[in-house]
Amino acid sequence: MTGADAAATHPTTATDTTHPTTASGGSSPMYTLTAVTKTYAQKKRTVTALDGVDLEIPAGQMVAIQGPTGGGKSTLLQMLGALDRPTSGTVRLGDADLSTAGDRALAAVRAREIGFVFQGFNLIPTLTAAENVETAFADASTPRAERRSRATEALAAVGLAERADHLPGELSGGQQQRVAIARALVGQPTVLLADEPTGSLDEATRDEIMDLLESVWRDRGLTLVIVTHDSAVARRAQRRLRIAGGTVTELQPAA
Ligand SMILES: Nc1ncnc2c1ncn2[C@@H]1O[C@H](COP(=O)(O)OP(=O)(O)OP(=O)(O)O)[C@@H](O)[C@H]1O
Ligand SMILES: [Mg+2]
Repeated sequence: MTGADAAATHPTTATDTTHPTTASGGSSPMYTLTAVTKTYAQKKRTVTALDGVDLEIPAGQMVAIQGPTGGGKSTLLQMLGALDRPTSGTVRLGDADLSTAGDRALAAVRAREIGFVFQGFNLIPTLTAAENVETAFADASTPRAERRSRATEALAAVGLAERADHLPGELSGGQQQRVAIARALVGQPTVLLADEPTGSLDEATRDEIMDLLESVWRDRGLTLVIVTHDSAVARRAQRRLRIAGGTVTELQPAA
């Protein structure tokens, strides 16, 4: 609930140096968002999903984003994931300006930098676990044998080596979420973005999935952004943000 819990889940090992705090000043920002606005034109009115968001996320940070339904969480995650562009303002990922990049450049950024765990598992029911992971290789430039071996590796990394040939319907919810995480990791991204990754899981499975996300975050030095309604999930992050009405506030700045 409070300091003790939060402190217990914050890394205190040597890996801390790869997860710099704001005070260090030496960390390069992974993301820099400046005055980001996103509006959607509806029939009769305009919906403002993001309303002037200024946000910096250092490389290697683990961030939770909370907030009410319709507050703009998924919209913000789509900006971070190079899935969409803002209506105005700038979104920078490292040196890349995602707000002015063309479709092909955004696709290249997604392939190189981003792993995305979608709300719901979003697996294709007629494909096996391994085949679902392989769908991450959108183009055919990776040879088939390599796609398969990397998918097998990614499934092993999430503890599902034995389930590669199972269909999603033959897997538990937690196992399906592991497949979705393997799919997000198979391209070796630098950023992992997860939209309600534990929303449909029971508490024990939720904790298992959070353990997995936290260990890949730490082991791979990822920048990890998790959207969640669940305070127990958010408490595990280094930093907690809230977004409501398209505006971001800092709930718990990074220690
Ligand atoms: N494609 C779209 N077209 C029109 N309006 C949209 C679109 N996507 C989102 N919106 C609107 O933008 C606002 C923010 O939506 P968003 O999906 O980011 O909310 P959220 O915080 O993820 O909510 P939830 O917790 O329910 O998933 C909402 O008012 C939503 O109706
Ligand atoms: Mg959402």
